[in-house]
Amino acid sequence: MENENRLMDVSMREEDELAEGTLRPKRLDEYIGQKKATENLKVFIEAAQLRGEPLDHVLFYGPPGLGKTTLAGIVANELGVDIRITSGPAIERAGDLAAIITNLNEHDVLFIDEIHRLNRSVEEVLYSAMEDYALDIVIGKGPSARSIRIDLARFTLIGATTRAGSLSAPLRDRFGVISKFELYTVDELKTILKRSASILNIEIDEESLTMLAMRSRGTPRVANRLLKRVRDFSQVRGKGVIDGEITESTLQSLDIDRLGLEALDRDILRLIIQRFNGGPVGIDTIAAAIGEERVTIEDVYEPFLIQAGFLHRTQKGRMVSRDAYLHLGLPMPETEQLTMMQE
Ligand code: ADE
Repeated sequence: MENENRLMDVSMREEDELAEGTLRPKRLDEYIGQKKATENLKVFIEAAQLRGEPLDHVLFYGPPGLGKTTLAGIVANELGVDIRITSGPAIERAGDLAAIITNLNEHDVLFIDEIHRLNRSVEEVLYSAMEDYALDIVIGKGPSARSIRIDLARFTLIGATTRAGSLSAPLRDRFGVISKFELYTVDELKTILKRSASILNIEIDEESLTMLAMRSRGTPRVANRLLKRVRDFSQVRGKGVIDGEITESTLQSLDIDRLGLEALDRDILRLIIQRFNGGPVGIDTIAAAIGEERVTIEDVYEPFLIQAGFLHRTQKGRMVSRDAYLHLGLPMPETEQLTMMQE
């Protein structure tokens, strides 16, 4: 048990008891959005069940907070098997992986979050586990070292990553299903918020749901968090039903603007405009100036800024769009105005 705690390896049942767990849908038909991924998975799950085989290994990739863990839990549930949840950085040595993987039963799901952060030696052990359902482990050192093979239950690995590009090719190639997660539309987020409000017994009007959905950066985790913060404000201010007024004032208190940009989003855009004349500027320069990790900017902030049309990735670096100047109310440089007039 101590070992399991160290690996942050919690079963879905324990996870369910956590506050966020109550909002997690349990079945595929309750899951909103990611239509392409879910429709395909439905077929692959049914086919695997018809053949009495384990589901092929699945890779989910896309920005954080889009429901990758949730969908992994649903896949296990639909298959009627248990899920073990762990993460790349938690598995330090091949022995850690062996401890988890040898405890799986036939057709169980092993979910590895942040799978791009597995170290090389663990990753190499995973290859034979995925391909042959066997672990090849070297015991001992030097001339007396020998390799032993442990047979495993036929399991399904579901890997999740914010960046498919940082997975090694041999690992990526061993996944039979690769699904990209997209940011959610306002309508999808509204449906998710409605469902969450009903589970949490929060009375909220249509206008507020729209406002929250529009300002959640396309991300259900953000939407659900904002819903809880609006509930806090409405409770303290003694309001009954949550309306547009209390929602607006909550969003203002949290420094979330009309289009859902947070302070750091605006800092990034302002930096590129004011210090680098709108770009292009390299991502490392932006990260150093803002004081955030490069990967955080790339994985968390950029996908939304790009989708919202404020930022472009170019060969020479990041550039802001005209909309970014307009949104922040900053004057455009002369050349930018010239190109605008010529268009
Ligand atoms: N909660 C978080 N993500 C969700 C989703 N995609 N569908 C339903 N509820 C969710």
